[in-house]
Amino acid sequence: MTAKQNARALLCALLFVGELSLAGSLSSQGMRGIIRKESFGKAASGARIDLYTLSNKKGMEVAITNFGATVVALKVPDRAGKAADVVLGFDTLEGYENGTAYFGATVGRYGNRIGGGQFSIDGKTYTLPKNNGNNTLHGGIVGFNKKVWKAIAAKDGESLEMSYLSVDGEEGFPGNLSVKVAFTLPADRNELKIDYTATTDQDTVLNLTNHSYFNLAGEGNGDILDHVLMLHAKRFTPVDKTLIPTGELRDVAGTPLDFTTATAIGKRISENYEQLVFGKGYDHNWVLARAESEKGLTLAAEAYDPKSGRKLEVLTTEPGVQFYSGNFLDGSAKGKGNKAYGQRAAFCLETQHFPDSPNHPNFPGTLLKPNSVFHSQTVFRFSAK
Ligand code: BGC
Repeated sequence: MTAKQNARALLCALLFVGELSLAGSLSSQGMRGIIRKESFGKAASGARIDLYTLSNKKGMEVAITNFGATVVALKVPDRAGKAADVVLGFDTLEGYENGTAYFGATVGRYGNRIGGGQFSIDGKTYTLPKNNGNNTLHGGIVGFNKKVWKAIAAKDGESLEMSYLSVDGEEGFPGNLSVKVAFTLPADRNELKIDYTATTDQDTVLNLTNHSYFNLAGEGNGDILDHVLMLHAKRFTPVDKTLIPTGELRDVAGTPLDFTTATAIGKRISENYEQLVFGKGYDHNWVLARAESEKGLTLAAEAYDPKSGRKLEVLTTEPGVQFYSGNFLDGSAKGKGNKAYGQRAAFCLETQHFPDSPNHPNFPGTLLKPNSVFHSQTVFRFSAK
């Protein structure tokens, strides 16, 4: 940073603290967390968009924009203490406005697919715009990832809270849905904790997740086929060729989707197993062990990059995780530093309810009713060894 940029960042930080004290969430002892606020440009709609950077003394930094409540950068140290940005993304707001891969975004109102773009509640059918063949993917044509969210700092500067009101009928979904996503970087731990809260004034369905694409060697640093993955799940939800679950819960044992022991992502990805052919690699929902027996926040997945020594653990209160091995990345969208992100340049671990749940009564339910509060939590925890 130049001295001028530094001075600007400091001024922005002070202005943001000003907003905080107005909001009454500034502690008299001083802030535990540090949040820097700067402009991220103007959206095509004319809205001013900001970039908020949370950092702690353990060497972790997370940049989040209120465009799509999107994680733009996530820097964590390797085994030698050297930090790198481990998520794919863009340098500019324009990248996110034009992007189609959901880099780092908050996905909603319904993450992943709804088959045939239709579901029913109490006998009433709702029809959604289709944006993925015959299906609706990630909330429709203009999902939460393309919306402008409101941001305020909370919890003594350790959290950034984003809120958005999705109005009744938006992308075909019923009910005014008020959503809050709180991103927390604790002062003393290298983890990003995401808390989702939502309320509605009519029965609706929802499935909220974060769509960060991780490469623990650093974004743009080759593919993730050598990363070693473990998924705490004994079953997955097989899909048809349009990636809609058939309704079956299949044992992973004896299939290339068995990650109950740590296995390199690339080891079996090209096997001629129908599910891998349909997904062009891994693009499936695993039924987390926690969904079957445990309650609360539990370990869902562990990914390790042997080169850098960086490890990611994913904990969640959700019943499923979509492990997507970046199969549809083709290098056409230029990312940070003008890097081309090719196929399998990153992986996603999207904690969620199962795809197409509204059409599968045997899956955990995604219905939200008025007068009840939806809450879900996911933690991305980092270490290095
Ligand atoms: C889906 C993929 C899709 C990707 C980007 C993932 O959650 O499962 O099929 O290509 O998101 O939209």
